[in-house]
Amino acid sequence: MKARTQVGIIGAGPAGLMLCHLLRLRGIDCVVLEARSRRYVEERVRAGVLEHGVVETLREAGLADRLEREGLRHAGIAIRFNERSHRIDFTELTGKAVTVYGQQEVVKDLIAAALAAGTPIEFDVMDVAMHGIDGKSPTLRYRDAKDTVRELTCDYIAGCDGFHGISRPGFPAGVIRTFERDYPFAWLGILAQSPPPSHELIYVHHDRGFALFSMRTPQITRMYLQCAPDEDIANWPDERIWTELRRRLEGDDAPALEVGPILQKGITPMRSFVAEPMRHGRLFLAGDAAHIVPPTGAKGMNLAIADVRVLAKALDALYKQGDAAQLDRYSDTCLRRVWKAERFSWWMTSLLHRFHAQSPFDYRVQVADLDYLTGSRAASTALAENYVGLPFEET
Ligand code: APR
Ligand code: PHB
Repeated sequence: MKARTQVGIIGAGPAGLMLCHLLRLRGIDCVVLEARSRRYVEERVRAGVLEHGVVETLREAGLADRLEREGLRHAGIAIRFNERSHRIDFTELTGKAVTVYGQQEVVKDLIAAALAAGTPIEFDVMDVAMHGIDGKSPTLRYRDAKDTVRELTCDYIAGCDGFHGISRPGFPAGVIRTFERDYPFAWLGILAQSPPPSHELIYVHHDRGFALFSMRTPQITRMYLQCAPDEDIANWPDERIWTELRRRLEGDDAPALEVGPILQKGITPMRSFVAEPMRHGRLFLAGDAAHIVPPTGAKGMNLAIADVRVLAKALDALYKQGDAAQLDRYSDTCLRRVWKAERFSWWMTSLLHRFHAQSPFDYRVQVADLDYLTGSRAASTALAENYVGLPFEET
């Protein structure tokens, strides 16, 4: 069966769904193809910090009703080292704040908005394949949830299918250059039914390894412990998790840690990755399909939203004014900001984690860096500016 659309979108994560929403607001037709079920994408627990500008983008797009009711506005974070916490006050330093609201909640809101507007999202599709990305009418062939083979002819294709998707490997050989860094550790992520130890996030540097205390609601804590990259989750019974969390939070000013049922646990790998360029012919990459950051700076979803803002505006300029200049600059515009988030995420990761081969000298330098960061207004401002989100690029 054959159909036509203006923009064919592969992937219903934050990038694909937000692109679909922004295009629909501009009257541009699109179809989203997703390999997983609606339930799967809505339940997938991931990071949960939204930059100031991302919240504004969601608000302008009419997507912030629940976010405004349920999201938690955070005016700062604590950085903890040598058993003491030091607050970085974002609002004082930048006039801005971040909002804690789970990524899957953003995804649920986006899916609800799309379905209410009658925008097609096809879940449970199989074998999506791209054809003719160098020509004028690229197509997406796939099998739908009922196993019917379908062909969707598009003006443009947006590869929003995450790091393991098919769009980036669909670039012709030699077109893409990749840049990457692996880290010799991972995060053990824990979702627990217990009140968070503080009303703000605590990033902990500790000689047993990094820890992070975040939250989803005032009753649900989200926590992470640095662990080995090949860690077996079976080695982490709940009791061991609480003991380790408590040890990494120790110190005279340590907030109390309330034990509660662990609702979910899993291992998050750490990687930095960028693919350049983010466009070939009529195929555009956005979000994790083009770049990955380690989660320490909480930038993953924010970057995905920033990419599709640029793409939606550029497609609008093309369709409304016949102006292809923004679309031609898409990759360069995104990559300038992407690299700054890559640098920030790499830096936060390097600053706060324990490295295997770390010498006593390296450790002292890390602590000196943390001491400078939390003691200097200039250094704290640099962290705050990056954390609340750098300005969106002009396109
Ligand atoms: N066909 C259809 N859908 C696919 C395919 C495929 N071949 N491959 C992957 N997908 C889907 C995945 O099932 C997933 O739902 O693409 C979607 C990609 O979504 P995300 O991985 O959430 O990526 P993105 O939208 O770029 O969002 C980036 O997600 O990984 C986190 O921390 C990261 O917060 C960041 C955000
Ligand atoms: C989270 O709440 O899941 C979270 C918060 C901050 C991070 C990463 C993850 O840096």
